[in-house]
Amino acid sequence: MLGSGKGSNFMAIADAVAAGRLAAEIAVVVSDVPTAGILDHARARGLRAVHLPPGRFRSKLDEESEPRLIQLLTEARIDWVVLAGFMRILKGEFLRHFEQRVVNIHPSLLPSFPGLEAWKQALAYGVKQTGCTVHLVDQGIDTGPIVAQEAVPVLGDDTPESLHARIQVAEQRVYPAALHQLLSGRVRIEGRRTFPV
Ligand code: GRF
Repeated sequence: MLGSGKGSNFMAIADAVAAGRLAAEIAVVVSDVPTAGILDHARARGLRAVHLPPGRFRSKLDEESEPRLIQLLTEARIDWVVLAGFMRILKGEFLRHFEQRVVNIHPSLLPSFPGLEAWKQALAYGVKQTGCTVHLVDQGIDTGPIVAQEAVPVLGDDTPESLHARIQVAEQRVYPAALHQLLSGRVRIEGRRTFPV
């Protein structure tokens, strides 16, 4: 699992694994941010937690850190890469290496509001419904095949914080469930579309 933030999705996924609702093992948790909550939570659960210095760019890994990440994950013999608030764009070499095996959660109903702070975009646009999307990662930004979505209402008195909090509750429900389907081979991918098997 890769993350840069507080790790609420990590917690929900780790809880689902512990409860037997998600047939998976979390081999390693990696963050580009040394103080990220996701690393503390992983360590508190006895999982391997690694800080990966991202190098000289702000929004992606540089030409040294990307191969280092590929090597680390390969040595950890992972089958899937689960992004949980990882704030660096992964592309090229990394995605070719783990093709169709990188999953992300995005805090909007894609294809609406890709990119950063999607809940703020939704609030500013004035939509009445937004939500979250579990999708496979392709070479675009938040453009890969959609695996699962859950809608949440936007309320009249919402602030960015209250809306994001409501979306995160949905994320913590939908992500472990979608991962269970995906990792146990119950999702067939055909072009952009995915189907239950
Ligand atoms: C989530 O809102 C997720 O949709 C986005 O980043 C946030 C991560 O939060 N990609 P957390 O670190 O899992 O709490």
